[in-house]
Amino acid sequence: MHSRAAAAATPSSSPSRLAAMVFPVLLLGLVALLTASLIAPKAHAADATPASTHTLIIDTDPGADDVIALLFAMASPEHLKIQALTTVAGNVPLAKTSRNARLAREWAKRPDIAIYAGAPRPLVRTPIYAADIHGSEGITGVKVHEPSQPLADGNAVDYLIRTLRAAPEKSVTLAMLGPETNLALALTQAPDITRGLRELVLMGGAHFNGGNITPTAEFNVFADPHAAEIVLKSGVPITMLPLDLTHNVLTSPERIARLRGLGNQAGKTVADILDAYVQHDMQYYGLPGGPVHDATVVAYLLQPSLFRGRKVNVEVDSREGLGFGQTVVDWYGGLKKPANVNWIAEGDAQGFFDLLTQRISRLP
Ligand code: BDR
Ligand code: CA
Repeated sequence: MHSRAAAAATPSSSPSRLAAMVFPVLLLGLVALLTASLIAPKAHAADATPASTHTLIIDTDPGADDVIALLFAMASPEHLKIQALTTVAGNVPLAKTSRNARLAREWAKRPDIAIYAGAPRPLVRTPIYAADIHGSEGITGVKVHEPSQPLADGNAVDYLIRTLRAAPEKSVTLAMLGPETNLALALTQAPDITRGLRELVLMGGAHFNGGNITPTAEFNVFADPHAAEIVLKSGVPITMLPLDLTHNVLTSPERIARLRGLGNQAGKTVADILDAYVQHDMQYYGLPGGPVHDATVVAYLLQPSLFRGRKVNVEVDSREGLGFGQTVVDWYGGLKKPANVNWIAEGDAQGFFDLLTQRISRLP
């Protein structure tokens, strides 16, 4: 006589009996899989999607957050093929933004990257700086020195024209972390350079958040609104990462501590810069942490899936008055004008800091 267990274990040709035997096994397997996926450590958000690749020029006005963005980008050579850095007057005068870009290059140990100095002042308006936020040297929290490696010979505007003219069609991404003077000058002198550009990815502007230099204007646009107007009308695909995004991607003591705890010099440098840099914005805006504006551009280049935006029409107000330097964003499309900007309104803050920390860990 067969026991029930023995009977259940005996192969049978009846389909219903087969199903009755196989189903519990499948169910058990499924439960085991689900349990494993729930208790297994989550994949690092920074590893969630494959990173994008860009042939890249970075135009910058370092600037504490620019320096962090530059370190982030220079730590990602397999994805960001940096052709050169170009500097512009902005947070501090041109000599200091250029010195600070050279410092970032030295800290990242990337002597292969040329740095060209560009425009020493905006197109039309009186120059303004942001030493109250970035300190008189343009980098908070760390000591600065004169790096041994010099600037490249020649001007950033000439470099942009020469390089974009020689580049294959739609091949070069230009990341812009400061006032947009250099590209505006290049576009004015050589409108044909748009052909070589794949995309512009800019930190700048404000809509839902309001401004940070006036109630309506964000610093990079306010510092040279006439340049921003030229760039926004260039016809090149543009992604903008405005204050609407960056004021929601904030440091926390834990996020800074993770950078400091990496055990390399770069992690300590970034943490020291941030500890000093976030103080102003936390106090002024009553925020629980500080934005790292320009570094979001690098995260967007590497992992656009961390961000969400909308294609909209954006124009700059360059008239004297309360709206000077404001980005006027037609979020609801009421003006029926063509969209010229992918306006990034939201981002995954933890994903951003995971990616930043992972990349900074690769540096000396
Ligand atoms: C922008 O202004 C500058 O102070 C920062 O470097 C950033 O590019 C934020 O408004
Ligand atoms: Ca900047």
